[in-house]
Amino acid sequence: MLDPHAQIVRRASDMRGYYADEQALEQLITAHDDPIHYETFESPVPEEYGQVKFCISRLYPGKVGDEYFMTKGHYHAVVETGEAYLGLRGQGLMLMKTAEGACQWEAFAPGKLIYVPPYWAHRSVNTGDEPLISLCLYPGDAGHSYGDIKSEGFPRRVFQRNGQVVVS
Ligand code: NI
Repeated sequence: MLDPHAQIVRRASDMRGYYADEQALEQLITAHDDPIHYETFESPVPEEYGQVKFCISRLYPGKVGDEYFMTKGHYHAVVETGEAYLGLRGQGLMLMKTAEGACQWEAFAPGKLIYVPPYWAHRSVNTGDEPLISLCLYPGDAGHSYGDIKSEGFPRRVFQRNGQVVVS
């Protein structure tokens, strides 16, 4: 799948500080030998203005406590750049937030496009029981920035409660 050198792998241990239940994350790391949480296959396209970067990401299913597996999420380093996602497989939510505290979300579904406008940080959440696989396209010079995500998180988290997907 594309250039294997551009594969980015995030393991459960890379997600310390992101989930509400830190103990549950440590149990997951220990009990399952620090499993791969998600992986991204980036296009070998130059990161420069005018280029279109694309990637395929695979976010595995599961929960940390009762919180669904998610990506770290990011802003773009060039904040005035947007992104388009196409769901390929699986079910989930795209959580989006601004630095000013706005928060919105949209459902992933195979064949469905999700648009992330400029300035919005974005995080994928797998609410299903199979890998959530998506294609993303974004400007070549967009870059990635974690900004306030490690310290502030997102205003909402996605849990399974009584068998239901709950954004709270
Ligand atoms: Ni992005």
